[in-house]
Amino acid sequence: MSFALSRLLSVAALSAGALCAGGATADSILEFDVWMQKIDRHSQSVLLALKRKDAASATAEARELERLYGLMERFYEARGEHDDPLLLSWDGRQRAARAASLVEGGDFDAAYESALGIARDCRACHDRFKPIRPLG
Ligand code: HEC
Repeated sequence: MSFALSRLLSVAALSAGALCAGGATADSILEFDVWMQKIDRHSQSVLLALKRKDAASATAEARELERLYGLMERFYEARGEHDDPLLLSWDGRQRAARAASLVEGGDFDAAYESALGIARDCRACHDRFKPIRPLG
């Protein structure tokens, strides 16, 4: 590949990256409510699945919560909010991951406690950080 072409390609890749980063943030604000509705649903269904000791559904629910909290974590990170909402998202993701691995190890009670912690923390974030404030 010629130098000029490879240079052109790397510039194109860079600006595509910049566009994506900007786009992801804007889209994510619109997506946030969708994530929340899913978080709402899965935070309840994981507890129900754990109560009836349904390992397959509980694991799937916990992994989905882990994914959604991860999206929320990246959202706050992209906004440069290295503060409580980021920490609460991180915490929820950890609790979801822990719940999933505890189920895999057959410890439904500990998994339930971990998942219950996610549900307990909803208000901690809502009370202070809902709705999302415009940046700047
Ligand atoms: C780290 C912060 C954070 C956590 C944790 C969090 N939320 Fe939210 N939630 C928000 C914010 C911010 C909004 C408002 C979004 C907006 O401004 O559009 C919201 C909105 C909502 C909504 C309304 C969505 C809509 O359609 O308008 C529901 C329902 C909801 N959250 C449920 C939950 C539940 C249930 C939990 C816990 C299992 C939870 N949330 C945990 C930040 C959080």
